[in-house]
Amino acid sequence: MLLKPQAPPVCFFGGKGGVGKTTCAAAIAAAVAAPAARTLLVSTDPAHSLRDVLAIPGELSAPTPVAPALDALELDPQLVKQRYLDDVRRTLERIAPPRLLAEVRRQVALAAAAPGTTEAALTEALARLLTEAPARYRQVVIDTAPTGHTLQLLQAPAAMQAWMDALLARRSEAIDPEVVARLHRRRGYLQAMAALLGDPARTAFVLVTLAEPMALAETARAREALNRLGLAPAAIVVNRLTPADAAGGWASAQHAAQAAALGTFGQEMACPIIRQVACLPRPHGIEALRAVGEGLLEAGLFAATGNGIA
Ligand SMILES: Nc1ncnc2c1ncn2[C@@H]1O[C@H](COP(=O)(O)OP(=O)(O)O)[C@@H](O)[C@H]1O
Ligand SMILES: [Mg+2]
Repeated sequence: MLLKPQAPPVCFFGGKGGVGKTTCAAAIAAAVAAPAARTLLVSTDPAHSLRDVLAIPGELSAPTPVAPALDALELDPQLVKQRYLDDVRRTLERIAPPRLLAEVRRQVALAAAAPGTTEAALTEALARLLTEAPARYRQVVIDTAPTGHTLQLLQAPAAMQAWMDALLARRSEAIDPEVVARLHRRRGYLQAMAALLGDPARTAFVLVTLAEPMALAETARAREALNRLGLAPAAIVVNRLTPADAAGGWASAQHAAQAAALGTFGQEMACPIIRQVACLPRPHGIEALRAVGEGLLEAGLFAATGNGIA
């Protein structure tokens, strides 16, 4: 008997806005969620659309059951950043001499607007979530923000660890043991996340794209950027293809244009290319998503991760 194709414990879905990341991430989450595989679907994209894609009305600001064995969570970047800065400010207030307290507060307030702060905050929130998730979830599926932001997020753990190491090395004898413990804990989350992201048996990166020249060029760049980080996509999903047998002159012209745009794309990418035909009607709601996700799994989405069809 063929077993259902398995997904690694952590799956990231990345790509340009509008290509179908949220749809594919929610589809995989719906397909893998099972009583023996509790699943968490997380969005870190500021343009949240999990609620729309899942067709549920309520808030997802905390892990919320959306189907049996499936919880969903939208991390609000602004809220996450505010909590992160409050935490940093409290830590610095304990370290800094009283005459510098006003300056500490001024610097933390300035950091709220500095580039990279949101990424740092989201990275730490995600690192913590991924470290704590195994106690509750077998699978975590992450619907990431568009490409540039995502890669910044993946680069952050190493940089943030270096910063914390320097602080801990210089200060650990002089400062409050509670602060040192807190920094060690935060460093531990980042270290665990860096190890997790670098382990292809535990983490898969799926790039979602469209059969259009600009989208494919961006996907090729995203793949190179992953490679530079020592990572590789588990697969690329080419979404919303027009079927070859679609009726009408426009549809067949569209199909031909997509085939021409794809050209030799697959051979250049050196990873499985999953072709997903456009669904009519749109894949909204758990049942429709589950069918899409099962199709992606059967097409070999994770076949190259060592967790393929047994
Ligand atoms: N295979 C598909 N067939 C039909 N519509 C799709 C498909 N994939 C995505 N869509 C639709 O395209 C739009 C963008 O998809 P979404 O998953 O929100 O993209 P992203 O998260 O990359 O911005 C949504 O309206 C979604 O329902
Ligand atoms: Mg989205």
